[in-house]
Amino acid sequence: MTVVAVIGAQWGDEGKGRMIDELSRTADVVVRFQGGGNAGHHVWVGATQFTFHQVPSGILSEQTHCVIGNGVVVDPGDLIEELRALRKHGLDVSRVHISDRAHVIMPYHKMLDQLEERDRDIAGGGNIGTTARGVGPAYVDKYSRIGIRMADLLDVDQFRSKLAYVLRQKNRMLTQIYGQAPLSLEEIHGEYYAYARELRSHIIDSQSYLQAALADHKTIILEGAQGSLLDVDFGTYPFVTASSTVAGNAFAGAGLPPHSVDDVIGVFKTYITRVGAGPMPTELHDATGEHLRIRGYEIGRTTGRARRCGWFDAVFGRYAARLNGLSSAILMKLDVLDRVPLLKICTGYRFNGEILHAPPANIATLSACEPIYEELPGWQCDTTGITSASDLPPAALAYVRRIEALIETPISAISVGPRRGQTIYLGERALVGA
Ligand code: IMO
Ligand code: MG
Repeated sequence: MTVVAVIGAQWGDEGKGRMIDELSRTADVVVRFQGGGNAGHHVWVGATQFTFHQVPSGILSEQTHCVIGNGVVVDPGDLIEELRALRKHGLDVSRVHISDRAHVIMPYHKMLDQLEERDRDIAGGGNIGTTARGVGPAYVDKYSRIGIRMADLLDVDQFRSKLAYVLRQKNRMLTQIYGQAPLSLEEIHGEYYAYARELRSHIIDSQSYLQAALADHKTIILEGAQGSLLDVDFGTYPFVTASSTVAGNAFAGAGLPPHSVDDVIGVFKTYITRVGAGPMPTELHDATGEHLRIRGYEIGRTTGRARRCGWFDAVFGRYAARLNGLSSAILMKLDVLDRVPLLKICTGYRFNGEILHAPPANIATLSACEPIYEELPGWQCDTTGITSASDLPPAALAYVRRIEALIETPISAISVGPRRGQTIYLGERALVGA
């Protein structure tokens, strides 16, 4: 039995999906525990690229069951589409289970996500650049105690009366604050009733299901979405997502006890990216940044936006490692650095004549921080075919080892390409199911 949490350790898009697909070959269950369709987890199989927004990234392994946990906010229409697309690939989607406690993203959440963004001007700094999937407004309703849960969808009368109450409130907002036309109770009720009928067989008491899996000594992977620097408490607030993305929330979002975890694996890129607004001390605005964007295909698949690229930030790296209690780290996309002659790693920030070794909470302070860099030579050769650490160019191994020392966490695997198998495992122990 092994329970492993796999957490994004940067601003998302680290390659969690790619690794969870690989790790889930020995997993019985993969569980998403927070976020929603704002995630975009990519897996290449041969010439096909799968993108998972809500379905856990373990679905491609035939024996693996996939749970959308209570901590997730579910868009049922989009989920049905995602399931349909997977079915077309011949996959058995009866292995996808949805928690009856998961909250539902409603049409007004998606509208409000866009309207609030349009009007948002945080401290004169503009908007957040959300994915517009309604995730933030759905979490707001969850904590306002007016959210609609999957269990409510199955109870037609209760759903109608809850929706009628919430919609009165939302329509006041939509018409009076945002000047929009009101939404129709009948239309939404009909649409979501149809979704409920289609998803009924997938909706389960996921907490009991996972407790039973635990009792049966199953191997469970808890799949993080977004990343630690987008965490609502510990990220670069307010330029964050609306959920807790760190390992501490993996248990609450799945309904498992904290002591059940064996390992927490953090996923990092060998550099760093960010999509959306907010401070990013090591951002590159030059040809190197452009090179990383092109070589690394750094385009967000959820929104089509180009990702901002920068040098590896070990200040944030160590912070994320400590925050999540990482037992090991996976370093993705080493190959993207293959042609960069000189590499830089940020080891501290300079602010007002002082040197900071931890990210400040104050966003204006963070924005004014200047990175202090350490330089390392590049290796200037192709690493994409390498499968063993002993074959890595010495400069590449030195770069990996330097990151390992700075984040104070052993690196257990390195990816050298987007495909299955383009992974170098370090050390003797398998990552999951050992
Ligand atoms: P995965 O799981 C990268 C970012 C958005 C925006 C902020 C808030 O693929 O790593 P939201 O729609 O969540 O309210 O947007 O968070 N964001 C992500 N960035 N990867 C993600 O997910 C993200 N999910 C949200 O760009 O800056
Ligand atoms: Mg993504």
